[in-house]
Amino acid sequence: MDDLTPVRLRDGTEGFVVPLLRANREALRREYEHLSAETRFDRFLAAVPELTETMLDHLVDEVDGTDHVALVLLVITADGTELPLGLARIIRYPDDPSAADVAVTVVDDWHGRGVATALLQVLMLHRPQGVERIKTVVSAGNLASLAMLRRLGDARVGEPEAGVQRVVVELECSPRSSEAATHPVS
Ligand SMILES: CC(C)(COP(=O)(O)OP(=O)(O)OC[C@H]1O[C@@H](n2cnc3c(N)ncnc32)[C@H](O)[C@@H]1OP(=O)(O)O)[C@@H](O)C(=O)NCCC(=O)NCCS
Repeated sequence: MDDLTPVRLRDGTEGFVVPLLRANREALRREYEHLSAETRFDRFLAAVPELTETMLDHLVDEVDGTDHVALVLLVITADGTELPLGLARIIRYPDDPSAADVAVTVVDDWHGRGVATALLQVLMLHRPQGVERIKTVVSAGNLASLAMLRRLGDARVGEPEAGVQRVVVELECSPRSSEAATHPVS
């Protein structure tokens, strides 16, 4: 993907989507510490107070841009600082190459302003080649997450079971084929 994709959020804020880099490892660890306990829980479906080295290996070092794509949405503040607002990733299932999991985290102060929607729009354009559906699990009753996933295509949402809901989304368009024609800012 281009290194920098301009986007406009639902609330009108202009930002950029960029690939997560290995150099972002420490920033990711720090930013995670500022998330609320609820956001952390909804991201990992468990109480994960901090990102361990093993988790960071997976979340940063294993991003290969092919089967595991991770993107950051950031805004530039008045003083020129880059402020990351959200992170989205898609990971192909090795045993089911036409399917992938997605995970999104948005910083608490920016929930409900369109960060996840903008991030996923770009992420889907850069999803692993051949991925046709998303298979994932969300916290039961995570309405924002369910709404976000329903935007991606034809979604089947399972009944709540043991605190989670399984979601399968049949994606609407081919990966990368529409890249030239689609631009998130219009
Ligand atoms: C889920 C999450 C990523 C959504 O991010 P966001 O930037 O707030 O989402 P958006 O503003 O783009 O909204 C996405 C959809 O959710 C809806 N939504 C947002 N907040 C909502 C809420 N509190 N209740 C119900 N719906 C909500 C929006 O209306 C939108 O739906 P629409 O397109 O049909 O209008 C964010 O809440 C988050 O980081 N949660 C914690 C981690 C998590 O749950 N990740 C998902 C599983 S990995």
